[in-house]
Amino acid sequence: MKTIIEPFRIKMVEPIKLTTRGQRAQLIEAAYYNPFLLRAEDVIIDLLTDSGTSAMSSEAWGAMMRGDESYAGARSWYRFRDTVKDIFGFEQVIPTHQGRAAEHILFGVMVNPDSIIPNNTHFDTTRANIEFFGGKAIDLPCAEADDLDSEYLFKGNMDIEALEKLVADEGPERIPLIMVTVTNNSGGGQPVSMANIREISRVARGAGIPFYFDACRFAENAQFIRRREPGYGDASAAEIAAEMFSHADGCTMSAKKDGFANIGGFLCTNDAELARRERNILILTEGFPTYGGLAGRDLEAIAVGLREVLDEHYLDYRLLSTRYVVEHLRELGIPVVSPAGGHAVYLDARRFLPHIESLQYPGQSLAVELYIEAGIRSAEIGTVMFGADPHTGEEHPARLDLVRLAIPRRVYTQSHMDYVLEGINLVWERRSDIRGMRIVRAPQYLRHFTAEFDWV
Ligand code: F0G
Repeated sequence: MKTIIEPFRIKMVEPIKLTTRGQRAQLIEAAYYNPFLLRAEDVIIDLLTDSGTSAMSSEAWGAMMRGDESYAGARSWYRFRDTVKDIFGFEQVIPTHQGRAAEHILFGVMVNPDSIIPNNTHFDTTRANIEFFGGKAIDLPCAEADDLDSEYLFKGNMDIEALEKLVADEGPERIPLIMVTVTNNSGGGQPVSMANIREISRVARGAGIPFYFDACRFAENAQFIRRREPGYGDASAAEIAAEMFSHADGCTMSAKKDGFANIGGFLCTNDAELARRERNILILTEGFPTYGGLAGRDLEAIAVGLREVLDEHYLDYRLLSTRYVVEHLRELGIPVVSPAGGHAVYLDARRFLPHIESLQYPGQSLAVELYIEAGIRSAEIGTVMFGADPHTGEEHPARLDLVRLAIPRRVYTQSHMDYVLEGINLVWERRSDIRGMRIVRAPQYLRHFTAEFDWV
């Protein structure tokens, strides 16, 4: 059969409230033209994030009823720990309430004001947590990552030469860990190859530097390796994931992505002494080491989700359904980052709206128009997010002006995506009439979440 179907049936539904164009124009104005400030129920298709928005399975809901809510040593903890050890292969497992809590604990014990931490591209919470402890977060994406049209299959790769140069120039003592983010969220959801992972590991081990994964979308990355990298076609996603992690010393994880969970995360390491120090902070900030900020039922849901996400039929459907949107956009001539990533579609707002200069936020205009046109909620990733210096208040165009449409796992069907395509195309057809935006009010830090806008 050629038709790719959603490999699940729906037995519980959540109604979508349909609004009119006129209502949406009023609602977004009342939200100061910032989609983050909308009420979720006023959104028809919510593509703000794939984080914590997954649909759980009947197995996961069933497991939640069996959650053991004992304070210490709960049955659910052991189920969670054994599952994580089995899939990720690390000795020590530390549960946290979400990914950034794992980052905060890890960097709290490893980073000092002299530290430099390289990554293919740091996610914003990773960068912010490193900077919070005085360290410097450095992005070393491969050259192909910058070319939005390059069909290179592993645009998430790290630039190995740049990594070697950094280690040689700064010395291993200043680099407490090397990280790689799979898939590379800030770089378009693009995968990292096994060959690149091996090379990073070689550099790290050669210099005696621990190597960590930011593993949020590890299963999507494993399936990309399976489908694209020679020699992996017959391996299962679980086997590929095991090989990926075997090259590393630990990971941070947000179970809100490839854990199918609505909340949760963890930190792993093979270093027992380091884990002891991390658990001391965990008790201070998250909770006792056998629950770490999660209910027993959450631990159960994650244990089920981590196994389900490695199902090859699910992963094929996941990658193909994202590609479906990207390929149809390309057929319509709409500028989009390609090849398709795993969890999101990224529109190139600068080429979509070439008449709007970066400092009039083409990505924000596009996100607002997608909402008015079709009730689609997306997120600007560009000059609003990255274009202001929090210390001086000065503004500059960001490297790219993108709009991210992140696809929640197992939530929307192909007809929802056809609706999204139609909505984007309607905005595309009237693109020359779209105006830029200006910021009316914005906070000093992380302004994209709460900034208020108006049309130019
Ligand atoms: N690392 C990556 C690569 C992420 O994408 C995220 C979250 C985190 C770490 C932090 O995890 O949210 O559980 O604390 N990304 C979400 C997103 C918010 O929309 O891309 P968290």
